[in-house]
Amino acid sequence: MLRRMPQCGQPLPHLRASDSHKVLIRTDLLKEGEVPVPYPSKFRDAWDDMTVKMPCSEKNLFPVENEDGSVVQSRWELIRSALENGCKSSLDIRDAILSYNTAHAKRWDFTALNVLCTDGLEHSEVQYLFDVILPEMVKLALSAPKICTQPIPLLKLNMNQSLTMSQEQIACLLANAFFCTFPRRNSRKSEYSNYPEINFYRLFEGSSPRKIEKLKTLLCYFRRVTTSKPTGLVTFTRQSLNSFPKWESSATQLTRLYITYEGTIEDQGYGMLQVDFANRMVGGGVTGLGLVQEEIRFLINPELIVSRLFTEALDHNECLIITGTEQYSKYSGYAESYKWKDNHKDETPRDEWQRRCTEVVALDALKYRHFMEQFHPDKITRELNKAYCGFVRHGVNTQNLSAVATGNWGCGAFGGDTRLKALLQIMAAAEAGRDVAYFTFGDAELMRDVHDLHTFLTDGHITVGTLYGLLKQYFNVVCKNSHSQRPDVSLYGFIYEQISSDPVPEPSPGPSSSSHLSTAVSSCSSDCH
Ligand code: APR
Repeated sequence: MLRRMPQCGQPLPHLRASDSHKVLIRTDLLKEGEVPVPYPSKFRDAWDDMTVKMPCSEKNLFPVENEDGSVVQSRWELIRSALENGCKSSLDIRDAILSYNTAHAKRWDFTALNVLCTDGLEHSEVQYLFDVILPEMVKLALSAPKICTQPIPLLKLNMNQSLTMSQEQIACLLANAFFCTFPRRNSRKSEYSNYPEINFYRLFEGSSPRKIEKLKTLLCYFRRVTTSKPTGLVTFTRQSLNSFPKWESSATQLTRLYITYEGTIEDQGYGMLQVDFANRMVGGGVTGLGLVQEEIRFLINPELIVSRLFTEALDHNECLIITGTEQYSKYSGYAESYKWKDNHKDETPRDEWQRRCTEVVALDALKYRHFMEQFHPDKITRELNKAYCGFVRHGVNTQNLSAVATGNWGCGAFGGDTRLKALLQIMAAAEAGRDVAYFTFGDAELMRDVHDLHTFLTDGHITVGTLYGLLKQYFNVVCKNSHSQRPDVSLYGFIYEQISSDPVPEPSPGPSSSSHLSTAVSSCSSDCH
């Protein structure tokens, strides 16, 4: 009964470029089932601090020593000749990549790539990789001047900016990332130090089985997009808010909750706003060793990875929304046990802009070294604002907003408390006028606890403001002067106690304080499965 896209959405306006929305394809030629046409038709170069420095830029130079001292040569020419030489083994790939990344020749290690090719794949698969997939990936990467013809704007700190490009353009950029061709992206000291890594070199290093499984997942993607070009678009939106709800005085009532210990955000949350439990550097350790919720999502929907090319680290009041990515792989396991399983045929419907109706929002929770730290009002407010920033869509009627599909955000690698984070996300979603589908990832007790509390709060018409006040009280009474690692009184127990002993007066009928138009939930609507 929760809202999903495309059913709940408003018809989209005609896709049109503007200052705040760069579009890298010909919108007038956009046609279902056809590969979008790059715009402009001729490569337009740029080498500045507002756009991505492309490998094929004529400004991408490197010094060459010859008889009359050092001259500079186009690095793109070097890349072309290195890659067109053909790669017959993982050592050839290493040699090619190092030939235009000389500064790092000593440091980069290609063990994982070698292991993949020697015993990670069947012999026939290795043959196919070198005879078919890799030559196609080289062609795709080297077609950048023809496919990515417009400078790609950097989505910088505090910008409100959207960027729409074709899945074909994304494939071309990711093929360049695979061959590590992006300039100025390999040292932590460059002007890109506040951006995630994009070149895939860390994927090739080390001998962890994680790398083998990651490489298998990404090669499945490259095989797919080089076998048949995808025809869709993807939109990346950096949303940066500078005004937030007054949590303490909010009269907003809670929205609906569907909670289950089965399933995952990406499977059962189709058509909903799916939360990526992100790092402030979007994608986290996807090209490194990381392999939990965010990295897995970025591997099975690899078009998400290209956001690392142009998205500066997220600040506390920001999120990244990615609409349109496609799932190419099935997986099993998690972290150490993650395994690429099979090719995946994504049947998600496309919207009028030819985007899969899959909306992912990257939200980086705070990482807590000490468990008690997260109950401090400042931390509570930061997490509420971060989640609200990810959920709110100003100017959109809440009846047209899908439910939020989320889970234990910030409660794994980042050490957060599941019950606190569940409550905070329910509050933020209510303020944004959206229902919640919550996946507890196997934790049946958590499902019951959150469901029962939500029912109790809904029946009691408890407002977001009242809850915010109770959280502050909980900190002052239970946490502030405590020296123990964990609270002596459970948060939910405290909330039940406070509300039961001091019942909140019936709200006077009238419009809720918040701007959205959602209907206040009258009956107990939470469902638990
Ligand atoms: N669907 C629903 N819930 C999930 C899923 C999924 N597909 N995968 C994991 N979970 C649950 C698990 O219970 C997990 O412990 O979410 C919890 C939190 O997942 P984490 O990935 O550990 O998220 P977080 O604690 O926010 O850590 C974020 O990890 O992946 C990196 O780049 C990311 O640095 C960032 C950090």
